[in-house]
Amino acid sequence: TERSLVLVKPDGHARGLTGEVLRRIEAKGYTLVALEVRVPEVEMLHRHYAEHEGKPFFEPLVEFMSSGPVTAAVIEGERCIEGFRALAGATDPTAAAPGSIRGDLGRDWGEKVQKNIVHGSDSPESAAREIDIWFPGL
Ligand code: GTP
Ligand code: MG
Repeated sequence: TERSLVLVKPDGHARGLTGEVLRRIEAKGYTLVALEVRVPEVEMLHRHYAEHEGKPFFEPLVEFMSSGPVTAAVIEGERCIEGFRALAGATDPTAAAPGSIRGDLGRDWGEKVQKNIVHGSDSPESAAREIDIWFPGL
């Protein structure tokens, strides 16, 4: 069985969508194995988003992600990495398909940071790396 790291980002938290995101994860049939609300440190976010270092949206993204509480969750289930990515929808919430978290609940707010409610690991390697960052020793 597989594990993935899911984040409800500060926009999702501020809009009161944390429960809705967790509801969709559980309704899909995945299990929560770890759950925590916290304001992430910039240093941790640099590690989490290392693949995006140098891109124009990197610093605004880190600043946004450290701006308020985030819910971090580890979910478990067969092919849950791919499955949660499908639940989340496309990165751009304007283009994300209706039925997905971003498609149903997200939009463009005219800001330099793309606020898209959730993060989900994109491969088994990034899931292992990200789980170790957010829940060391799990
Ligand atoms: P995550 O699940 O958050 O990792 O999203 P993703 O995997 O769909 O996107 P990706 O890893 O490529 O980018 C990480 C985050 O950076 C996105 O979720 C957005 O918040 C932001 N981002 C990505 N691409 C862009 C972009 O072209 N412009 C802006 N402004 N933000 C972006
Ligand atoms: Mg990503």
